[in-house]
Amino acid sequence: KTIYILNGPNLNLLGKRQPDIYGHATLEDVEALCASAAKDAGCDIVFCQSNHEGDLIDWIHEARDAASGIVINPAAFTHTSVAILDALNTFDGPVVEIHISQVHKREAFRHHSYVSMRADGVLAGFGIDGYAMAVSQVAKMIPA
Ligand code: DQA
Repeated sequence: KTIYILNGPNLNLLGKRQPDIYGHATLEDVEALCASAAKDAGCDIVFCQSNHEGDLIDWIHEARDAASGIVINPAAFTHTSVAILDALNTFDGPVVEIHISQVHKREAFRHHSYVSMRADGVLAGFGIDGYAMAVSQVAKMIPA
């Protein structure tokens, strides 16, 4: 079983970007955490990050054939992208949405998520540990 882990804009700067909100760990640390959680669950991962909406859409399309589940932190596209929602709606397996920060404690524009209309589970506010939780939960949701 393969899980696609997709990360949206500015997450390449994790660790350097607003560390008061997002912490000091880097995206490489996140990938290592996800690899370890996936190994525990007996799954493989494909880990991607892009600052471009179309790349995320292309990876979701690729996941239709290549993945059993998706973990996605769409970052700012969470709050703006009907196109990412539409792409996720073409995917048959489980989808878990994860945010490092507790978006509901933040600005009102972060309270709405297009992706949540498709996600089978949503995690927010657990820092990068949320990724490990998301990977183990999505693995459980994959039909045997
Ligand atoms: C984020 C929250 C979003 O509102 C923000 O635009 C991000 C990161 C998070 O992981 O907390 O870039 O998705």
